[in-house]
Amino acid sequence: MRPTRSWLLVAALLAGPAWAERPADFLARFEAEARSQDASFAASASRGRQWFESRHGEDWSCSTCHTRDPARSGRHQVTGKAIEPMAPAANPQRLTSGRSVAKWFRRNCRDVLGRECSAAEKADVVAWLIDAGRSTGEGR
Ligand code: HEC
Repeated sequence: MRPTRSWLLVAALLAGPAWAERPADFLARFEAEARSQDASFAASASRGRQWFESRHGEDWSCSTCHTRDPARSGRHQVTGKAIEPMAPAANPQRLTSGRSVAKWFRRNCRDVLGRECSAAEKADVVAWLIDAGRSTGEGR
């Protein structure tokens, strides 16, 4: 392999292989991070669902913009812009980009909780988003 080629490969790897990420990778990553703080931690979709729908001392919950049903489109409370469904089963783009997931967790957690989300909170909510699309309808 010529040197220029290997540099291109290195650059591509450093840029972050967004195409290689799947929703389950994020669940595994956040769960492992949470376990490093509490060895008995196990992600819970039902806990994630409750957390997603609850307010945390501020005016908004995650469902304020994303609705309570992650398989449906939401709407930004301030700008009125439509937001595509959050559940990977309803929207295959979701939870496939580390950059997007990190950016939006940071921003939305500050808006909703007034702080960054913990790894445990992220693991639970990702478990809920993965589950949610699989059981659409479900009484709602
Ligand atoms: C003020 C409105 C608003 C609130 C409240 C909100 N979000 Fe979002 N969220 C957005 C917008 C806008 C985007 C980016 C647009 C898009 O991806 O369609 C987004 C994107 C995301 C993404 C990116 C998903 C991906 O695969 O790229 C995640 C994860 C997310 N939000 C989680 C949350 C969580 C968790 C909460 C509650 C703590 C929350 N959001 C609350 C507006 C909101």
